[in-house]
Order: sequence, then C-alpha cells, then structure tokens
Amino acid sequence: MKILVTGGTGYIGSHTVVELVKNGYEPIIVDNLINSKESVLGKIEQICGVYPKFYNADVCDEEALEKIFSENEIEAVIHFAGLKAVGESVAKPLEYYSNNIFGTLVLCKVMKKYGCNRIVFSSSATVYGMNNTAPYTEEMPTSATNPYGQTKFMQEIMLKDIAYANPEMSVALLRYFNPIGAHESGLLGEDPNGIPNNLMPYICRVADGRLACLTVYGNDYDTPDGTGVRDYIHVVDLAEGHISALKYLEANKGVLTVNLGTGKGSSVLDVVNAFERVNGVKVNHKIGERRPGDIATCYASTDKAKEVLGWEAKLNLDEMCRDNWNFIVKNR
Ligand code: NAD
Ligand code: UFG
Repeated sequence: MKILVTGGTGYIGSHTVVELVKNGYEPIIVDNLINSKESVLGKIEQICGVYPKFYNADVCDEEALEKIFSENEIEAVIHFAGLKAVGESVAKPLEYYSNNIFGTLVLCKVMKKYGCNRIVFSSSATVYGMNNTAPYTEEMPTSATNPYGQTKFMQEIMLKDIAYANPEMSVALLRYFNPIGAHESGLLGEDPNGIPNNLMPYICRVADGRLACLTVYGNDYDTPDGTGVRDYIHVVDLAEGHISALKYLEANKGVLTVNLGTGKGSSVLDVVNAFERVNGVKVNHKIGERRPGDIATCYASTDKAKEVLGWEAKLNLDEMCRDNWNFIVKNR
C-alpha cells in the first residue's frame, strides 16, 4: 500500500518511513529539504533495506503534488511537512501561515481530486494552550499562543471541516508531546542548524562542548523541583503510533483526535540528570529566568491512545537519552 509521507526526510518523518517499511507499506516521500537532507534516504536504506521513492518538491506546489498523485496510487497521506520553531514563528508569521496552512490546503485539494481520503496529521500538544491542567485529555478546549501554535490549531479545524463535508474521509489528528531520542542505529536523529531552542538538542551541544552551558529556564514553577515538566516521548515510539493510526483509518471513517505521549512528566533537571548518568558525560547548567510563553507542566492522558489505537509508548527517559547521544556521537 502506497503512503505519501510529506516531510518524510525530517526528524519524525524519517523514523516513520522506517516503520512503514517494516510494516509492509510502500512510503513515497515528498520534501523540499528546507529542514532536512537528501542523504537521510540512504540512511533509511541502511536500516530497512529500501531506498524510498523521493520527490524534492514543496507541498504548496499544486502541480508538483498532482504529478506525484498521478504517478502513484496513493492510499493515504501522513502529513509532517511544516515549519516548527515557535520563536521563529513569532518573527516570521507570514512564512509560518503560508507554509503550514497553505501547504495543507493544497495537499487536501489534490487529495480530493485524486480520491485519496485518508490523512494522518502532525498536530501538537501546543494546542492545549496555557489554560488546561495536565494530564491533557483530547476533549479539553484548544487554543494557541504563537503563530506556530495557531497553524496547528487552524489545521486541526480545517481538517475537521473537510472531513465533515466528505463522509468518506478518515482523519487522524495526532497531538505529539515532546519527541526526543533517535533511531538506535545512530543513523537517524535530530541535530538542528544554529543554536537549538529545544531542551534535548541543547543538552547534546553542551555535552559535546559546542555550547558552554545550558540555561534552565526557571526553577520557581509549581513542580516537584521547580523546573518545567514535559512529557518526553521516544521518536521511535512516536513513529510506531503513526502505524497504529494508519491501521485505525483503514477501518474507520471520520476524525480521530489522539495524544501521543507517555503520560509521564519529567522536569528539566530530571532530563539533565538522566542524560549525565546514562551517558557518563557532564552537562554544565545554570538556573536562569523563565522563558516567556512556557507553562509549568505538560503531559498527556494516554487512555485514548491505548483504548482506540491499542498503542502505548514503550521506551523510557534513559533510553531516549542514550539513543539521542549515540546519534550525536556517531554523526559529529
Ligand atoms: P522537521 O523539520 O525535522 O521535519 C519537517 C520536514 O518537512 C522537513 O524535512 C522539511 O524540510 C519539510 N518541509 C517543511 N515545509 C515543507 C514544504 N512546504 N514542502 C515540503 N516539505 C516541507 O520536523 P519534525 O520534528 O520531524 O516535525 C514534523 C511535524 O511534526 C511538523 O509538522 C511539526 O510541526 C510537528 N510536531 C513536531 C514536534 C517536535 O517537537 N518535533 C512536536 C509537535 C508537532
Ligand atoms: N528548557 C530549558 N532550557 C533550554 C530549553 C528548554 O530549561 O535551553 C526547558 C523549557 O523551559 C521547558 C522544557 O525545557 O520547560 C522543554 O522545552 P522545549 O523547548 O524542548 O519544548 P517545549 O515543551 O517548550 O515545546 C515543544 C516544541 C513545541 C511543541 C511542544 C509540545 O518546541 O513546538 O513541545 O509538543 F508545541
């Protein structure tokens, strides 16, 4: 079964492509390489023996998408392609709205034209906004506090409306919590360009000496040790969640909204301590000011994912830290 994976050379997309191959699907990737490299395709081949079919194209390019759909009988789409940096989205809202919203609209339009009715969408825990209390359950009200979050919030609404108008549609809105870790081979992972914004890539840069010190953004939150608590999930578990969602869509129509998290919260210091212990390296850190826009605690209710998808995360924080560092060491 041919599955179009938009953003398939990216961090979560590449791990999902591996799982698709392992589960007997035929992934076809479209990516404009704005935040990834074509060399990822060879790494995927090294892991699972298949060099995926690849189109270097933008999902906003309707003609290019039409070519892909006309050349391949695509049964479902997993839609990862998008820009994802919160801070950058505040500085460049036009780019974010245009890439994320327009890209999804064009994709849906072409899917409709070619009678492709199944889509798995990368949403985010960011849609729970600032006013809910963890554990977050899927029926809680959603909102957004920055342009990136707004694009996820709006894309969820757009996909729901599109599905409402077409009873043949099957849509999975997957709300990811904090993906970290890497493929155990050390071939796939994430090492962003420039100075990282997110915790795990920053820890890795400090551990390997490229950056001097991690600033812990606040230790006066109402959490066990005062630092921010998040639900970190291993990217391979997350990738497997997409296979479960795809199988669900093969049997069900309508819209499924579901969290992909572990249900366990870890503080910034929990992550730093686990990383140091598991990898035997030092992560210099100091306590700094809170980062504007951050909340104290964010973790998922995982009941729905277990019940509806039969999926749950298996890998723990130690394994996430180990695999993330292994990827950095093998690729520096
Ligand atoms: P990533 O940047 O590694 O992957 C996204 C891929 O999409 C990249 O390869 C990029 O080149 C490609 N892309 C971007 N715009 C494109 C376009 N217009 N046309 C074609 N390709 C395009 O990011 P990721 O971490 O793998 O995230 C994948 C998805 O999951 C994104 O939609 C992101 O918003 C969402 N998400 C990520 C996180 C996270 O923390 N990583 C959390 C929640 C949701
Ligand atoms: N943190 C630090 N120092 C750093 C970076 C982060 O202390 O240098 C802290 C943050 O304050 C927070 C925790 O580490 O408490 C995690 O921060 P990240 O930036 O790694 O992740 P966020 O939870 O802020 O946001 C991430 C993605 C969002 C997504 C959200 C929910 O960046 O796009 O998870 O999925 F919406």
